[in-house]
Amino acid sequence: VEQARVSWGLPGLIVRDGDGAVRGWTFFMVRHNRVEVGGLVSDDAAATQALVAALMVEARARDGLRGFVHAGAVGIDDVLANCGVHAEAYRYLACDCARVATPSGALDEALARAAHDGATLVDVRGWRIADLEGAARLLRDAYGARGALFAPQNELSEWRDYVHNLVTQSACGVVSPQLSRVVLLNGRMQALALATTLAEGSAHIAQLAVDPALRRHGVAAALMADVARRASRAGHSQLSLLVSSENRAACELYHGLGMVETGRFLALRG
Ligand SMILES: CC(C)(COP(=O)(O)OP(=O)(O)OC[C@H]1O[C@@H](n2cnc3c(N)ncnc32)[C@H](O)[C@@H]1OP(=O)(O)O)[C@@H](O)C(=O)NCCC(=O)NCCS
Repeated sequence: VEQARVSWGLPGLIVRDGDGAVRGWTFFMVRHNRVEVGGLVSDDAAATQALVAALMVEARARDGLRGFVHAGAVGIDDVLANCGVHAEAYRYLACDCARVATPSGALDEALARAAHDGATLVDVRGWRIADLEGAARLLRDAYGARGALFAPQNELSEWRDYVHNLVTQSACGVVSPQLSRVVLLNGRMQALALATTLAEGSAHIAQLAVDPALRRHGVAAALMADVARRASRAGHSQLSLLVSSENRAACELYHGLGMVETGRFLALRG
């Protein structure tokens, strides 16, 4: 997006009312012959309707539409439904780091419960760029077909691209090797909390995953608490993340940690 904006120009649409005042705008890029919407802002339902209708004209000339936008445009839910665009809500959750943090032993205990086999070699450490392949495999296995927003066909190459973008670009914050936690069992990555910093005082969980074989032993909760403890020590006050409202396991987990909704985004498919 930034490259387009500063070089050849970022495609978009703008709505003005009869007095010439701007009432809404949207921008998009065409990738893989699909319209990918990066933002849609409007303070008027008719403007929202005009923008979505115009985006659908672009999408129909290609292979459809995708997008990830803040759910702030007036009337957006109804307009999307009327235009046949499927929207999955993503909740933006946040909490005070100091309130989630627990003593450091909790993660070791959870891993001991999860690993069953006492002989398993467990290693917990910060993020390294060489972890990219292991992270892609873990996310593929952890999400399966439910990770279509990140890897539409759930293929390893898509997950590699996704993790590469996550750790080399700053759209979800700047990756923090010190705050992140990688869990290796016998040399294979089986759990990950990938943390970034968004701004001074604000840490973010860009991804969290636990291998299906290790679930429901408190590993994710302990990882979150560990990241929160590190973030708090590093001077951050807030910890945030995005979660699909359809991801019941994760929503329950974050609710249990005391995270509260502070905003809403929409993943679009049409
Ligand atoms: C979500 C995820 C990380 C949870 O990992 P986990 O190690 O199994 O979670 P924990 O054992 O720490 O669970 C802590 C609490 O979360 C909730 N929870 C976890 N899994 C749940 C499930 N399948 N259904 C309902 N609640 C669940 C429960 O409240 C649980 O406490 P309890 O076991 O005492 O009832 C894991 O399911 C996963 O990797 N999912 C795929 C990737 C993903 O969705 N990541 C989140 C991105 S926002």
